[in-house]
Amino acid sequence: MIPDEEVERVREAADIVGIIGETVTLKRAGAAFRGPCPFHQGKNPNFSVDPRRRIYHCFKCGESGDVFTFLRKRFGMDWPTAVRHVAERSGITIREVSSRRDGPDPRERLWEVNAAAEAYFRRLLQEDPGGSAGREYLAARQVGLDVAERFGLGYAQRDGLRDHLATLGFDDERQLEAGLLVRREDGAIRPRFRGRLMFTIYDVASRVVGFGGRVIGEGEPKYLNSPETIAFVKGRMLYGLNWARNAIRRADRVLLVEGYFDLVRLAMAGVEEVVAPLGTALTPDQGALIARHTKHAFLIYDSDKAGLKATFRAADELLRHGVAVRVVTLPPGEDPDTFARSAGREGVERQLAQAVDVIERKVQLLERGGWFADLHRRRQAVDHLLPTIRATADAVTRDLYLARVAEA
Ligand code: UTP
Ligand code: MN
Repeated sequence: MIPDEEVERVREAADIVGIIGETVTLKRAGAAFRGPCPFHQGKNPNFSVDPRRRIYHCFKCGESGDVFTFLRKRFGMDWPTAVRHVAERSGITIREVSSRRDGPDPRERLWEVNAAAEAYFRRLLQEDPGGSAGREYLAARQVGLDVAERFGLGYAQRDGLRDHLATLGFDDERQLEAGLLVRREDGAIRPRFRGRLMFTIYDVASRVVGFGGRVIGEGEPKYLNSPETIAFVKGRMLYGLNWARNAIRRADRVLLVEGYFDLVRLAMAGVEEVVAPLGTALTPDQGALIARHTKHAFLIYDSDKAGLKATFRAADELLRHGVAVRVVTLPPGEDPDTFARSAGREGVERQLAQAVDVIERKVQLLERGGWFADLHRRRQAVDHLLPTIRATADAVTRDLYLARVAEA
């Protein structure tokens, strides 16, 4: 249940033009904004959004309401979902009160078994003869055991965890639920992680919600991750935010990297305001999460084709949440891990100082590719740039982007 005063606070903070403008093309008309009505599928600008009164109204079909009504009627969200959605978009944490008696959190049973597994993986890596392969691998990558301890790294043997957890009272069912065990098609149960270096994944409150296991040396998949559970919703969290959140606020910037090792290595070099989306494209929830901490992001992804694609997608997502995005380009063949390992903090700072705004980077690449050479290609170039301009929630930045693109 969301108390009324909280709903009011969210309504006040909400950017109703921005939220409705995501799906309706709105143009300024005096103090309000006008566009085609999405409710009666109108073509003329009869649909008005008034940011001062925080309402929308269609002069043709009569539909009207506030930002929550819009989300409910347009997207079928229920009331609390609409309020939470807007709160998240607006960077507001809402206080909810439980309508029933407070029961235990259903995620508790997953946190517990994961924490026990983490302790087991850690001990193996730190001191157990069975963890020597993990220690050798880490040493070869020049990561010390002290760093491993600080970031919750561990080692998973081929077996052993299942019995160990059983003696602690965690039955197979619970281990399956957490994804530590998997049931094969023939019904046999086996450990998910075998012979892997383990990265513990914590939520922002530092509870253990999952693992990412790297194969030692070559092999497929390179990283095996815990499955999604009610405690581990990948699209809603960021790896490393538990360590980075204070540093992000202090530095008022965040560095986004792709991998576990990238993050650990940067932290080793003394750059702590780093997070990694968990192996997926940056989601809207992750964009909102970042925007709550800072409005300045640096993307340090691979500069190959896939990396650039991921960079630009993530950038659009961040721009939607009013975050300014700069793109860092590392020397060919380097990732943040290898780069920070050789160049250290100073090298990283130098690269950050040379980072360019995402629109600049896009224009740069199009220019180099000869996309402004003739009219036909120019049309396609504009198609590449428009989504970024459209995504930009900050009106001033959007104008600057338009000007830059026009100039190009
Ligand atoms: P990369 O393939 O770029 O690897 O994946 P990396 O981080 O540089 O790893 P190292 O240095 O070779 O050990 C980037 C990230 O994508 C996710 C992981 O989070 C990884 O860190 N990933 C990658 C997976 O989840 N599964 C995979 O099989 C590969
Ligand atoms: Mn790497």
